[in-house]
Amino acid sequence: MNAAIRAVARAAIYRGDEAVGIRRGYRGLAENDYMALDMQTVAGILSLGGTILSTSSYEPVREGAVGRVYRAFDEQDLDAVVAIGGEHTREITRQLHEEYNLPLVGVPKTIDNDVGGTDFTFGFDTAVQIVTDAIDRLHTTAQSHDRVMVVEVMGRSTGWIAAYGGLAAGADAIVIPETTTTVEEIVAGIQSRHNHHKDFSIVVVAEGAKLAFASGEERLIQPVRDTDEYGYPRLGGIGSALAWELESRTGYETRVTVLGHVQRGGTPTSTDRILATRFGVFAYELAKAGDFGKMAALRGTEMVAIPLAEAARVKEVDLGILEIAKRFFT
Ligand code: F6P
Repeated sequence: MNAAIRAVARAAIYRGDEAVGIRRGYRGLAENDYMALDMQTVAGILSLGGTILSTSSYEPVREGAVGRVYRAFDEQDLDAVVAIGGEHTREITRQLHEEYNLPLVGVPKTIDNDVGGTDFTFGFDTAVQIVTDAIDRLHTTAQSHDRVMVVEVMGRSTGWIAAYGGLAAGADAIVIPETTTTVEEIVAGIQSRHNHHKDFSIVVVAEGAKLAFASGEERLIQPVRDTDEYGYPRLGGIGSALAWELESRTGYETRVTVLGHVQRGGTPTSTDRILATRFGVFAYELAKAGDFGKMAALRGTEMVAIPLAEAARVKEVDLGILEIAKRFFT
């Protein structure tokens, strides 16, 4: 996020414009909460995780604050706003542009990599690297103690982090929300590995995947019934539920590691910094050209502008990736 914020600010300064940071997303716009984004305030943030502007789940339409957002454009003399965020931000941005004609441009940010219309979102590469490092480390115990290690990773609606992290680290099973993998199938894979004298296994599961059985029964595992601040079900616990099933069916000692928010923190990879920088500069140029209602997107190696509405669909994992990973499962 900080790399993208810096990029928008520096691109503006480069072209003789002034950039202002809006704190806590749309809440800052409605409540006049800004910070200067000048050469000094964006210095040294390229390598910092998180966002110097903080974030919130504030929705101007829901809060009856569209009038205040309008006024902010006048009072602050804003020509355009670049909104950086995931599904939630993109939807608010699309609505404010389409229904209220505000001059907005979107930048896709989520570690989940599930925004439609763009090949990659920044944050994803860093999360995948953290998962890869963690699994590499877990291999040590798995191998030395002949254990099954279940690694629960993020991925609410899609299994991009599980699929890429699992492939990169040589996982022996990958369970994602897009496709059903039954407990029985995983058990068969683990047994097959043992038959090939591989007495340990690493199972990667996305937190949004369901616990599925050959009988057709499927269970979404949640730690609490609550939804989060965005209204999504709070997830977590599939790792433990799956581990219990695997251990009781195979008899092999099975342990669980939940990577949780570790995946969303720390120093971003160079790939993410470059991607965020490209997105930020491109989004600024769209705003400068008055090309509003668009989202910056990566297609192949090119930056392109797509309508915000096109980004609305959730982008599922290319199952071809899982097909490749499967060749290494048994
Ligand atoms: O950023 C999206 C995401 O990583 C999802 O994969 C995950 O379900 C969610 O965030 C968890 O967010 P939190 O627990 O911080 O609300």
